[in-house]
Amino acid sequence: METSELEQIDKTVKGWLRESRDNVLRKIDTRLTVNTKTSRRDLVTNIDKQNEKFLVSKIREFDPDAKILGEEGFGDKVTSSEGRVWIIDPIDGTMNFVKQRNHFAIMIALYQDGVGELGYILDVIGNRLLSGGPKLGVFDNGQPLAPIENTSLKDGLIGLSGPMVLNNDFNMVDIAEKSLGMRIYGSAGIDIISVLRGELVGYISYLKPWDFGAGKILCETAGLEITAIDGGQLGMLSSTAVLLATRNAHRDVLTIVGK
Ligand code: IPD
Ligand code: CA
Ligand code: CA
Ligand code: CA
Repeated sequence: METSELEQIDKTVKGWLRESRDNVLRKIDTRLTVNTKTSRRDLVTNIDKQNEKFLVSKIREFDPDAKILGEEGFGDKVTSSEGRVWIIDPIDGTMNFVKQRNHFAIMIALYQDGVGELGYILDVIGNRLLSGGPKLGVFDNGQPLAPIENTSLKDGLIGLSGPMVLNNDFNMVDIAEKSLGMRIYGSAGIDIISVLRGELVGYISYLKPWDFGAGKILCETAGLEITAIDGGQLGMLSSTAVLLATRNAHRDVLTIVGK
């Protein structure tokens, strides 16, 4: 896609995100309808569903030929990365949303034939939007993202997933011990924003395409490494343990994992 076309899409998506944030904030103090999905820790609320429906309707109107992959299933069944694919996580960090009404994100990504074009991660309560892509660059609330220092694992904080630490998957305890400290935020979006802003040196979690779709585009554009935890390539439709970090911390983690 041409830069001028991407700039136009970028403006449009930012408008959807503003509206989407307003919709969520308007309902934030209302009683939520909460349902469990695969376990008591895997939740979905009426707001997740409403927000996904809202974003799907905006995308359908704007880009009727594209496919849409949404976590809550209001998009299409996407099995191939061909063509234009929009990926939506309507509320990332649903458990935080339910228990804290804070520390959750809205994420949107646009891929063309498997190549990331635009990514958006909005910290709803912090009102911070990380946006952009390879042709536009990465922006933090509209300002060019500050350069990210290539910090090593031993000199930084690492964002981890609770279950991975509890099970010591991939030597996660060692990884935490080698770092300056671990942080468990409970929202991939909030973790990825923190890595992009240099507050964390990296982030590791089991993720689905809607959890990392936007982050992959932003991280790659910002010069961070993002792969599967074994160092393997991360396809747009992969569901796997994901490692994103500065180049140095990425290398340090792979050494500990044994790859
Ligand atoms: C979850 C969060 C969580 C991560 C999980 C995701 P959801 O997303 O990002 O931090 O560890 O793997 O599924 O379900 O709240 O959108
Ligand atoms: Ca979920
Ligand atoms: Ca998510
Ligand atoms: Ca979600």
